[in-house]
Amino acid sequence: MIELFEMERMQSTWENIVDYDMSESGVRPLTLRELVAMGFDLEEFLDQPLGYSQSNGTIELRERIAALYPGSTLDQIEVTNGTSEANYLVALSLLRPGDVFAMELPNYLQMPGVAKSLGGNVIPFHLQQARGWEPEWAEFERALDSRPRLVYLSNPNNPTGSILSNSAMERIVAACEAAGAWLLSDEVYLGAEISRPRTSSFWGLSERVIVTSGLSKAYGIPGVRIGWIVAPQSLTEQCWTQHDYLTIGPNKMSDRIARVAVEPSNRERCYARTREILNHNLPIARAWIDSFGQRLTWREPQAGAIALIKYDAPLASVTLADRIRTRQSTLVVPGSHVGLEGYLRVWLGGREDFLREGLRRIGVELKAVFEDSK
Ligand SMILES: Cc1ncc(COP(=O)(O)O)c(C=O)c1O
Repeated sequence: MIELFEMERMQSTWENIVDYDMSESGVRPLTLRELVAMGFDLEEFLDQPLGYSQSNGTIELRERIAALYPGSTLDQIEVTNGTSEANYLVALSLLRPGDVFAMELPNYLQMPGVAKSLGGNVIPFHLQQARGWEPEWAEFERALDSRPRLVYLSNPNNPTGSILSNSAMERIVAACEAAGAWLLSDEVYLGAEISRPRTSSFWGLSERVIVTSGLSKAYGIPGVRIGWIVAPQSLTEQCWTQHDYLTIGPNKMSDRIARVAVEPSNRERCYARTREILNHNLPIARAWIDSFGQRLTWREPQAGAIALIKYDAPLASVTLADRIRTRQSTLVVPGSHVGLEGYLRVWLGGREDFLREGLRRIGVELKAVFEDSK
């Protein structure tokens, strides 16, 4: 048995039905034509037999990914169907019934569902808005005292868009080493920084570190479903074994596209495109939030196309999100779906007119709710 992954099910039920899907978390995606402009040889690809691809990722793709993680070799890379499969393979490889799984909240809530389904015992530790979304350290230490087998965080974080300081990273790594825990750092938003330097990877800080990432967010190419794992070789091999049973490997077209995307100059082009979209959209979101006075508050995201907004009204976030969907045909993520009640997560990665209209529609319902709860 596995519990429902509420956010994903809510999105897959409604995202293609509503007029304004404001529940996304990446920037608006690239087209194949834009990838052709980056060097994807479409003409040559038309003659490629559509056989199975190398199941753990082609050598060329794994070499290019390994080059992004200093000190890693291609044997430490497993190419997967999205970052979600990467995370799943790590959990399948490491977690046994009774194991403690510690995780940062709020977060993308794939991993607690997976951990529980494998018999794991999930212990959360929270990021705190008042402290710039730094972890609540006492709670973190308690979680680590329970001797977790695996600790999970996303950095940059979904949904807060916050980035851990270097000292916070070092503290987390040191605690994982002391507890004998593996640290899984999900870095799918790395590269989506809005106006600050590139986020440091956890890769290389310890032998206990595993990194997952993929093309879905900072690169803006979720539809090709390519992700990867970077881990010590023995663990990568276990993930490959799990992969053989699950989906065998990523599809051949996607592997090919990914080789183009992760090539260093193209990667920078993708990241620059993401940064440009977000720098354009952030002031629009800021002005919209400010127009509600203190009834909407946030800490601006440092990375990612996501605004996590606290609303001042006595209404469950699911109720509020349902109201916005049914009355305005606009989809947002209720905070409870990312582990934080009293918030909405709103997409910032669309075109300007789409963003403005989506925010306007959300605003109509918020105003009515605030009026009712005066
Ligand atoms: C932190 C995090 N990890 C993984 C995923 C899933 O990514 P993918 O589309 O690469 O499977 C998401 C999607 O929102 C995410 O936010």
